[in-house]
Amino acid sequence: MFSLPKKATIIEVGPRDGLQNEKKEVATADKLAFIDSLQVAGVKEMELTSFVSPKWVPQMADAKEIVGRSKRVGRQFVLAPNEKGAELALEARADSIAVFVGVSNSFNQKNINRSTQDAVKALQPVIEQLKQQNMFVRACISTAFYCPYEGKINSKDVQSLCAEFVSLGVDELSVADTVGQANPLECYELFTLLQEAFSNVLLTAHFHDTRKMALANIFAALQAGIDRFDTAAGGLGGCPFAPGATGNVATEDVVHMLDTLGIETGVDVKKVCEAVEKIAPHVSRPIESGMYRLYQNGQL
Ligand code: HMG
Ligand code: MG
Repeated sequence: MFSLPKKATIIEVGPRDGLQNEKKEVATADKLAFIDSLQVAGVKEMELTSFVSPKWVPQMADAKEIVGRSKRVGRQFVLAPNEKGAELALEARADSIAVFVGVSNSFNQKNINRSTQDAVKALQPVIEQLKQQNMFVRACISTAFYCPYEGKINSKDVQSLCAEFVSLGVDELSVADTVGQANPLECYELFTLLQEAFSNVLLTAHFHDTRKMALANIFAALQAGIDRFDTAAGGLGGCPFAPGATGNVATEDVVHMLDTLGIETGVDVKKVCEAVEKIAPHVSRPIESGMYRLYQNGQL
């Protein structure tokens, strides 16, 4: 019989991954209300926004205001792809930074206009400087299973990229199925490998739910010893430069599954649904999570 953890951490990525791909501008006040209601639901770690080029991702152009006006609860991440992003994040007084690079070279060219190795090289002094200032740094490792341009990814390449970031001193690796194509066996195998290789950093799983495999993949990752999950309220999300990818796995569905497995998260499913209700009118994507449907039908 496998063993499961007693507790797990939800890292809410709805305000960042959930909204970055929305074509119509979501008002800063609506984003802040969403963030606030997620904090009320008990979320203690959250990706608030990204300091990326507003030409590339216009929806994140209000990053400075989002950081300045959101409450400091637990750990609040902002994404930064490069030195400029990290500088802007520091100016805005962000407390934790997430850098991001994919395993696949073609994805990185589309997403950050750089090859994998050029991106890591450019991030090296940035991470060193952040660590000197005692910042918490997470490295988001995209396309760890499949790439929309290159197909299946070799787990040895994932391990090598993770090793480079660990040697630079990051505190956390968030390993992503960017296009939602992995199956539970692949997840179990990769996370077992990474867990053994990198026991000195936090390991987090980030699943997009394109093929409705994400809950099964989370269960597989739990069995591999993972107890941190990136999720987005309402199942919002997707990377603008990963064609075919849909939203992240829905926070409310993950928390419900963990609740029923007796794994404590400190997050309240009904209150997450209340947060989804706040943002739903402002996004183009229909909300399709099981728990939100029950909530809307008055069955929660
Ligand atoms: P570039 O055009 O190659 O940048 O874009 P550049 O260095 O040549 O600079 C061009 C201009 O952009 C300059 O301004 C810079 O100052 C400015 P100008 O002189 O023309 O006025 N610039 C910036 N402005 C604001 N913030 C910055 C920044 N950097 C340069 N940080 C760049 C390169 C990386 C900036 C661009 O490609 C970019 O912003 N990409 C972001 C893409 C993105 O946000 N993708 C989604 C997040 S990743 C994701 O969703 C995956 C994840 O969820 C995990 C998973 O699911 O896989 C994390
Ligand atoms: Mg993502």
